[in-house]
Amino acid sequence: MSAKPCSATSSSTVSRSQWPRIVRLVEPQENKTHLAAFARTVQSGLSCQPKSLPWAFFYDEEGSRLFEAICELPEYYLTRTEDGILRRHADEMVAGLAAGGDTGLEPTIIELGSGSAVKTQRLLAAGLRQHDRLHYVPIDVSPSALEDSAQRLTRRFAELKVTGYVADYRRGLERIMARAKGPRLIVFLGSSLGNYEMDAAVELLTMIGQTMRPDDRLLLGTDMAKERSLLEPAYDDSRGVTAAFNLNLLRRINRELGADFAIEAFEHRAVYHPDRGRVEMHLLSTRDQIVHFAAAGMTVRLAEGEMIHTENSHKYTPETLSYLRSRAGFVEEAAWTDERGWFRLQHWRLS
Ligand code: AVI
Repeated sequence: MSAKPCSATSSSTVSRSQWPRIVRLVEPQENKTHLAAFARTVQSGLSCQPKSLPWAFFYDEEGSRLFEAICELPEYYLTRTEDGILRRHADEMVAGLAAGGDTGLEPTIIELGSGSAVKTQRLLAAGLRQHDRLHYVPIDVSPSALEDSAQRLTRRFAELKVTGYVADYRRGLERIMARAKGPRLIVFLGSSLGNYEMDAAVELLTMIGQTMRPDDRLLLGTDMAKERSLLEPAYDDSRGVTAAFNLNLLRRINRELGADFAIEAFEHRAVYHPDRGRVEMHLLSTRDQIVHFAAAGMTVRLAEGEMIHTENSHKYTPETLSYLRSRAGFVEEAAWTDERGWFRLQHWRLS
């Protein structure tokens, strides 16, 4: 996943040549609306006990860069493990695109939160081994991530059309699914679902399902529960990249919302709670302090040792996945995992 402030508002077509090398961007959310929503969420999180801040706002330009760096860390096994599964099974994963029948209509791969789309290339290459042409539609809130990956992908794959949507998942999916008439595969990788609370995950999956036809497939990547000794370092690495990623949220709030968090007075914490099925990230206040939050005309007191909850990263079991699947109205058609069972990719269709 990758995101940044929705400030670039203008590009409707960043490059256009003959089919298949078309890259189109939809207008992002107005900056003012975006900032107001950001301020509201921060205000409400800081008014609660325990305090929290919204993980969805990690991904400004610096946050996206730090997240890409996290994906390369030796401790952050998720990206490598998922990529290994994709490398071995991409052909089977896209074979479902043929299930749309011999309509002659071009197959479409839609990706939610594509970011740099590095792993997705395995699916695109497999899709183009099976079809003469392919339409790839990444949805992301970051115009720059979309532009970069679209340029890179169209250079690599001559028969690929890329339409990048700068939008939230709901808006993007509704538009795309109304237009793409051929066989369709929705891809949601990286265990990004894990950042949603269980009920919100059901809601998101249900929304995805509402845009799908019976012959569409969802390819979902999820990180699985495992020992604390593997999980906690993945979210608290020795080089401090994840700490910088977590603290960057305070920097962003200072910059965009006029707050005065003293960054040096916070420490990164990552704790696995097996009973809650998730790793939680927090920012710990190392002293009693008062923070002024100009956008909300608000003053926030933090005690020494007080934690601000910034992110959940759910780690699934076959049981929790089956619970999510049935509540959201899906059945499983196939699943793939690595030899250690650390990560799982699954094909779901509507029940
Ligand atoms: C994007 N998301 C799936 C990452 C995760 O593993 O929860 C975000 C992240 N947070 C800390 N490290 C990576």
